[in-house]
Amino acid sequence: MGRAVDTLTAVGRALVRAPGPRLAEGIVTHAVRRPVDVALAVRQHEAYVAALRSAGWRIRAATAADDQPDAVFVEDALVVCGDVAVLGRPGDPRRRGEIDGAERAARDLGLRVERIEEPGTLEGGDVLQVGDTVYVGRGARTNEEGVCQLARLVGGRKVIPVAVRGCLHLKSAMTALPDGGLIGLPDQVDTSVLPGLQVVREPAGAHMVVLGPDHVLMAASAPRTAARLRADGLRVTSVDISEFEALDGCVTCLSVLVP
Ligand code: GLY
Repeated sequence: MGRAVDTLTAVGRALVRAPGPRLAEGIVTHAVRRPVDVALAVRQHEAYVAALRSAGWRIRAATAADDQPDAVFVEDALVVCGDVAVLGRPGDPRRRGEIDGAERAARDLGLRVERIEEPGTLEGGDVLQVGDTVYVGRGARTNEEGVCQLARLVGGRKVIPVAVRGCLHLKSAMTALPDGGLIGLPDQVDTSVLPGLQVVREPAGAHMVVLGPDHVLMAASAPRTAARLRADGLRVTSVDISEFEALDGCVTCLSVLVP
């Protein structure tokens, strides 16, 4: 019964990867390192997945990668653009072991697979797609060569490089609302290429997953932004992802949505 309802209402597929036993060893660059409660993280991830499912997304689980502490941040391993999955080449070499599993997941989704090649680096958290425009963060994890290779692989789309600073990825600092409007932290992105950026002051207020035409998923750590968006008429689902935020994660990097 649940599956039939799922199929009728589905808006697309959502690729996720459950946290592994080594999650607490994940990379921390910007947060202040603190112990991560892995059991709590597992529960938070289940609630995150349930929120996607409730919004009509069909869940596809990538094979666990228990030896890769950061593998739960599955978005960073690949970029899906139409029927193509571009496998990233993480700027932090400690994350390169995640790519093989991401390739299997992409093939299971029936996607054509391309890849970023050396000397390019690219992590999916640096790629924000808004309609036919692809914003690509250029910073610690994604380099100029990675941006150029991605631009060639997603030919036909307008690629806008965005310099990022003081954050892990572009989508740590900026995402988009269902109407395509950009929302984010102006101190962390080059606003000269982002006209109309709606400014938020809560760090997690910059992170939206668009679940539907008037529905976003946000972290519970951005209550003021959530209230503002609700007042503007959006439906906001909030989830507590504290254990992932402790590892510089946010709601976007825990899934890849394939409309
Ligand atoms: N912990 C996520 C990353 O640094 O890549």
